[in-house]
Amino acid sequence: MQQFWTSSYIKKVFRFDDNHISLQSLYNAEEKKYIPTAHREQRGKINVRKWTNEQIPSIGEKFGFLKRPKEQVVICKYIQKGGVLKTTTTFNEARVLGLNGVRTLVIGADFECSITDVIMDKHEITTLNDRPMTLGLYHLLVENAPLGDVIVKTNLPTLDFIPETHDLVALDKWLNQQTRREYVFKDKVLPLLNDYDVIIFDNGPSWNHLIENSLTSANTVICPLGCNLLAYNASETNLSSIFEFQEKMALDSQKVFMIPTLLERNSLSQQIYGQYLTKFEKYIIPLPIRTSVKGQEALVCKQTILEYAPTSQFAQDYYELITSLWSKIACLGEN
Ligand SMILES: Nc1ncnc2c1ncn2[C@@H]1O[C@H](COP(=O)(O)OP(=O)(O)OP(=O)(O)O)[C@@H](O)[C@H]1O
Ligand SMILES: [Mg+2]
Repeated sequence: MQQFWTSSYIKKVFRFDDNHISLQSLYNAEEKKYIPTAHREQRGKINVRKWTNEQIPSIGEKFGFLKRPKEQVVICKYIQKGGVLKTTTTFNEARVLGLNGVRTLVIGADFECSITDVIMDKHEITTLNDRPMTLGLYHLLVENAPLGDVIVKTNLPTLDFIPETHDLVALDKWLNQQTRREYVFKDKVLPLLNDYDVIIFDNGPSWNHLIENSLTSANTVICPLGCNLLAYNASETNLSSIFEFQEKMALDSQKVFMIPTLLERNSLSQQIYGQYLTKFEKYIIPLPIRTSVKGQEALVCKQTILEYAPTSQFAQDYYELITSLWSKIACLGEN
C-alpha cells in the first residue's frame, strides 16, 4: 500500500499530462495553501515533497479528473453472472472517485463478502478471538445499530464502506417478510446517507431481495459483460431480468450502462465483444477492460490500477473507461 505520494506520483495518477496540468501549478497551490502542505524529505540536495493518503482527496478535488456530481448518484452494480469483475470495477470506480475528492460509500451486498475482502485491511490475526466484530446492513436494519457503528473508514477520508457480513442471508429472509419489501433500502437506508456524493451497491451474482432493493434505490445500473462464451451465452437472459424488474417497478428514469470486461486477444473473445457492441449499442461503453495479471495484483495491494501501475496501458484503459462512464453518469443531476 502506497503510504506517501510524491509530486511525480501525483502527476502520474491524476494524469496531469492528459489534462494539461503542470507540476508548477501543484507547487503554487501548496504554497498558497489551496491544497494541504506536504512533508519534506531530504534526498541528497533535493527536498522531496510527500503527501499522505489522507491528504490526497483534497488535492484530487482541485487537480483530479472527476468532479463531484450535482446530485447524489446511487449505483447498483449487478449482472447475474459470477467472476465478470463486478467487485473489481466497483472497487476501482469507488477508490478513483474517492481519490478525486468525491465522497463515496460502497455497500457490500454479496453473501460471499467479496468487496469487504478487497477493501478491508486485514490486521494480523493470530487467534480466533482476534477477529474484529463487523456489523453490516443486517445490523443497521434489523437490530437498529447506529449508522456510525456500521460504516467502516478506509485510508481515504472520502471513501467509506458498509461491509458484508454473513448475516446478509438472514437479511434477505427478513426483507421477504416486510411490507414494501423492494423499497426497504430506499426508505430506510438512503435517507441516512445524504452526506455521500456517490453510493455503490456491490451485489452478488444471484437474484435476491438485496438486489431488488439496490435496484429500486439506484438511479444508475452498471452491468459488466464478460467477453467469454459463458458470459455471452447468459447475457441476454441475465439482462432481461433487470429490464423486466425496471418495468415492473416503473424505474423509468434509471440509466443502464454496460461495460465489457475480460477481453482477450483471441478471436472468440474479440467476436463476443463485437456482438455486445451491436446488440447493446444503446447501453455499452466501448472501452473494454482486458484480462490482465496487473488487475489482480492491484487488488491484492488494495490499490486501483491507476495507483498500482499508473504508466501502464492497462491503467490508461481504465482511466478512459472511468472518465467516460462518469461523464455520462454525473450529468444525471443536470437533467
Ligand atoms: N483485468 C483482470 N483480468 C483478469 N482477472 C482479473 C482482472 N481484474 C480482476 N481480476 C480477477 O478476477 C476475479 C473475479 O473478479 P470479481 O471478483 O471482481 O468478479 P465478480 O463479478 O465480482 O464475481 P462474483 O459474481 O463472484 O462477485 C478476481 O479474482 C480478480 O482478482
Ligand atoms: Mg463480486
